[in-house]
Amino acid sequence: MRYPEYRPRRLRKNEKLRGMIQETELSVRHLVYPMFVKEMTEKKVPVPSMPDVYQFSIEGLLKEIEEVVDLGIPAILLFGIPAQKDETGTGAYAEKGIVQEATRRIKKLFGEDILVITDVCMCEYTSHGHCGIIRDGYVDNDETIKRLAEIALSHIKAGADMVAPSDMMDGRVRFIRQMLDINSYYNIPIMSYAAKYASCLYNPFRDAAESAPQFGDRRSYQMDVPNQKEALREIGLDIDEGADIIMVKPALFFLDIIALAKDRFNIPIAAYSVSGEYAMIKHTSAKGYIDYKRAVVELATGIKRAGADIIITYFAKDLASWLKENSL
Ligand code: PBG
Ligand code: ZN
Repeated sequence: MRYPEYRPRRLRKNEKLRGMIQETELSVRHLVYPMFVKEMTEKKVPVPSMPDVYQFSIEGLLKEIEEVVDLGIPAILLFGIPAQKDETGTGAYAEKGIVQEATRRIKKLFGEDILVITDVCMCEYTSHGHCGIIRDGYVDNDETIKRLAEIALSHIKAGADMVAPSDMMDGRVRFIRQMLDINSYYNIPIMSYAAKYASCLYNPFRDAAESAPQFGDRRSYQMDVPNQKEALREIGLDIDEGADIIMVKPALFFLDIIALAKDRFNIPIAAYSVSGEYAMIKHTSAKGYIDYKRAVVELATGIKRAGADIIITYFAKDLASWLKENSL
C-alpha cells in the first residue's frame, strides 16, 4: 500500500487520532529519582551545574522525600557524601556511614512508601576519587570487589530495598550476590550498571557527589564510547552473575545500546539519564533556546521508545507532576 491510497497523515489529523496510535507512554511507576545526601549542618546546598538539584542533610532529605512520595515516584537512587574521605574509602561501608544512617531514617519514616536503591561505589569515599582501591596507580579489581560486597551488605542491613553497583569492576555482581545470599538477603535485587561508558556527561554529577578523580580518569574501568558489542558482553556477564535489572548509562548518546539490549536480553532494563543530559536541557532552556517541558518529555519518551523499562532521571519530579496533572 502506498500513496495515494495510503496516507500516513490521515491518522495524524487531530489529537484524538494521534492518541489512539501512540506507541510509547510514560508512567510515573517507571521513574527513579537520584538524590544526594551529605554529612553536614546545612539542610540543603544547591549544585550550581545542576539547577534545582541539591545536596541534602538527612533532615533535608527526609523533607524532600515527602514530596517525592506525594508525587507517586516509587524509588530514589541514593548517593552519599561523607564528611571524611580516606585512601581506601572506609566510610563507604561504615555502619554509621551517611548512606546507612539516611537509609535507616528513610525506612523508619516512609516504610513501604518509597524504595531506597543505594549506589554501591567508592568514589565519593576515597581521597583520590577513584571507584576502587588503588595499587601502583591502578584500580585493583579483586581488592575492590571485596569491599563493594561489604558496602552492599551494609546498605541492605540498614534497610535498603535494592543495591546498584556503579563501579564497573569485573565480577562485582557475583561477589555482591554471594555476599547477600550468604547473609540470607536472597530476596534483595541487584540493579547493575552493566554498560556504563566513560562519558563526558558525568561532570555535573561529580560536583554534586564530590567524586571527581584526583588523578587520571576512569577509562581503565568504564567502557569506551565507540563500543557496542562490548556493551552486550558486559550486560551478558552481569546477567550471568545474578543481576536482576541491567542499566545502560548515559542514556541520551547511547540509545542504540538500550535498543540492542532490549532486543537481545529478556531482563528489565534501566536507563540512567545522567547529570550532563540534565544540565544541557536546564541551561539551554533557561536561556530560552529550547522549550523546557517539551525537551524533558521528548528525552524521556525517546529513552522509553528505545526500550528502557526504568528511567533514572533528575527530571523525575517534574515528569511526575506533569503526569499527575495529565498535561504531557
Ligand atoms: C560514580 C558514578 C557516576 C555517576 C553515577 N555514579 C559518575 C562517575 O563515574 O564519575 C554519574 C551520574 C550522573 O552523571 O548523573 N560511580
Ligand atoms: Zn564510583
